[in-house]
Amino acid sequence: MTAPLLQVEGLTVAYAGKRGKAMVTVLNGVSFSLDSGETLGIVGESGCGKSTLAAALTRLMAPGASILAGSVLFEGSDLVRLPESAMRPIRGKRIATILQDPLHSLNPLLSIGTQIAEAPIAHDGFSRAQAWDRARDLVAAVRIANPEARLREYPHQMSGGMRQRIAGAIALSCAPRLLIADEPTTALDPTVQVQYLQLLKDLQREHGFALILITHDLGVVARVCDRTAVMYAGRLVEQGPTAQTLREPLHPYTRALLGSIPTMSTVAGRLRTIPNQPPDPAKLPSGCAFHPRCSDVFERCRFEMPPLARIGEQRESACWLNER
Ligand SMILES: Nc1ncnc2c1ncn2[C@@H]1O[C@H](COP(=O)(O)OP(=O)(O)OP(=O)(O)O)[C@@H](O)[C@H]1O
Ligand SMILES: [Mg+2]
Repeated sequence: MTAPLLQVEGLTVAYAGKRGKAMVTVLNGVSFSLDSGETLGIVGESGCGKSTLAAALTRLMAPGASILAGSVLFEGSDLVRLPESAMRPIRGKRIATILQDPLHSLNPLLSIGTQIAEAPIAHDGFSRAQAWDRARDLVAAVRIANPEARLREYPHQMSGGMRQRIAGAIALSCAPRLLIADEPTTALDPTVQVQYLQLLKDLQREHGFALILITHDLGVVARVCDRTAVMYAGRLVEQGPTAQTLREPLHPYTRALLGSIPTMSTVAGRLRTIPNQPPDPAKLPSGCAFHPRCSDVFERCRFEMPPLARIGEQRESACWLNER
């Protein structure tokens, strides 16, 4: 068996506390793996740690964030332990990240063409003319009309949806082995969302990169992801093949998330949501962090944290119900 492209073990990340308060752990012991060309969806409610995870994988973290434990094995190196100088070529070339808010990742002072051409010049030894040709192809590939003229424009001259597609073009400019896309369609209206996802899948088929797609939209996951990982309060609580996970969820949280998808019957009536809010990471409940909101809670859940346990060949779930 060949080794996976990416193997994350026990990844734990904390943010510095405000005004001398203790550090707050927001990602706790996250483990998963990803094969070449595979698509993994990561889902969970707002604040569960999805963006923190996306950023930690290549150490593109906000100031004040630190990795407390764990490893991120990628093509034979542990990215947690590599010196910063060795990370830069990996970020530019092997792993690309589309951030949650692409407006902030585009440079307002540089033309679109300059931004897309930057990585091929820096990492692949392209001449400026070659890199410009590559940039034009990529802008055409993300289905923006009149690419030659667009390359000379600046981010503020584009619509939100175009900026998101430009962020995708920049991410793909060095033919990465892994693309991490954090909520890449949230800013888009529903029809453009579907087009953008189709585009990502088409580009993936053509270029063969693996994809980690972060979203709170289970419909998106169902459409594009081979496997799905569900996060709650900084931990993975369930993972497995997407079809099985969505059809017969193992964890009560996954079931609750599925129950909160609007369906034909709920759109007309009231949208079901999971009662109450996810917990503040600084004040996590004892035992299973989901227990105060769980409809299946029993005594043990209040005191003991259930580990992420293997269920059958391909699935994992962290719930004491699995032992009953
Ligand atoms: N720069 C930061 N400093 C301190 N705390 C942070 C910072 N960024 C995020 N957090 C906290 O870390 C936790 C996880 O945040 P994160 O952005 O990873 O969640 P998310 O799952 O991506 O949410 P969303 O769906 O809203 O994008 C939250 O409690 C958040 O308040
Ligand atoms: Mg986020």
